Amino acid sequence: MNKIEVGILGATGMVGQNFIKFLEGHPWFEVTWLGASDRSAGKKYRDACKWNLNGVAPDAVRDRIVEECKPGNAPRLLFSATDASVATEIEQAFAHAGHVVVSNSKNHRMDRDVPLLVPEINPDHLKLVPLQQRARGWKGQIVTNPNCSTIVLTMALAPLKPFGIERVIVTTMQAISGAGYPGVPSMDINANVIPFIGGEEEKMQQETQKILGTLRGDRVEPLKAKVSAHCNRVPVVDGHTVTISVELANKPAEADVIRAFESFSSLPQERKLPSAPVRPVQFMREADRPQPRKDVERDHGMATFIGRLRACPVFDYKFVALSHNTVRGAAGAAVLNAELMHSEGMLD
Ligand SMILES: NC(=O)c1ccc[n+]([C@@H]2O[C@H](COP(=O)([O-])OP(=O)(O)OC[C@H]3O[C@@H](n4cnc5c(N)ncnc54)[C@H](OP(=O)(O)O)[C@@H]3O)[C@@H](O)[C@H]2O)c1
Repeated sequence: MNKIEVGILGATGMVGQNFIKFLEGHPWFEVTWLGASDRSAGKKYRDACKWNLNGVAPDAVRDRIVEECKPGNAPRLLFSATDASVATEIEQAFAHAGHVVVSNSKNHRMDRDVPLLVPEINPDHLKLVPLQQRARGWKGQIVTNPNCSTIVLTMALAPLKPFGIERVIVTTMQAISGAGYPGVPSMDINANVIPFIGGEEEKMQQETQKILGTLRGDRVEPLKAKVSAHCNRVPVVDGHTVTISVELANKPAEADVIRAFESFSSLPQERKLPSAPVRPVQFMREADRPQPRKDVERDHGMATFIGRLRACPVFDYKFVALSHNTVRGAAGAAVLNAELMHSEGMLD
């Protein structure tokens, strides 16, 4: 099979590097174009970018010349990891020019005609794309993935949706890699907890309602459940851990909740998409798991791990969930989105 050429907008940044790493050896996609700011354009990738991941940048990109993020010679499929201050204009310009922009930036996530896609949860929200193209006069399109803490919460709640989710309180313990590079100063985060991440709580609350919402005609009707988020930065390198208390209308037995987690499987698994974890939600019975250091790299960072399910004296149940923030919460999420879109014939 000839691979599909892909480009990366914001290729020199932290998420851009994660895209390059995640796509190395991908069976369907091959990175052939790199875009960044005019500070980097014209330079070889290895000179434009300080590689902050383990090892060195892959040979396939090291000597590639970085281009400006302007439509021209880029391939049709683009992953976007551009700085949020410029992502709106850049992504729209490429979509207008006919590109398929699979974005990791926050800028378009809550636009009513843009899918906020999690392939295991709301693949039908891709039906917004033709409406988006018609409304905006674009030949191309923008599809987004959620914030890195929202993905943990939504993957944990999706198996419980049939029980009727009524109220949710979630508290995050978010890794420092979620703040990019250099991110949070070491003097602030070492042996400490920072109980504030700007805009994060609002994003978690709104994005969760959109992702778990129902597509009705030309719009997504948000999940009616109330969601309240407390977001904290903790001295963990990779992996966002969240604790969740949930009220469920149908009052399921604990065994039914466990069965819902353990049996959760969806379209990406059915279609065997290359980046889809075989078991997207994994329930752990050990009393002290999941833990970021022990569990976050398992299943290539694409699964969500759940544990410590027990009765909640205020709501119905409480439990812990963990996902890899720069893989399932960023690059891996966008690549899985593109794989679903390819399997739907949207990249033909
Ligand atoms: N870090 C995470 O875990 C995470 C998770 C989820 C979502 N996100 C989102 O992903 C995006 C990237 O985050 P990041 O942490 O990778 O940021 P970053 O390390 O600061 O990288 C930003 C990228 O944007 C490029 N850029 C900056 N100004 C530009 C301009 N005027 N025109 C074109 N490109 C420009 C930079 O290129 P130069 O190197 O040339 O400046 C760089 O490639 C953000 O929207 C962020 O909110 C991040």
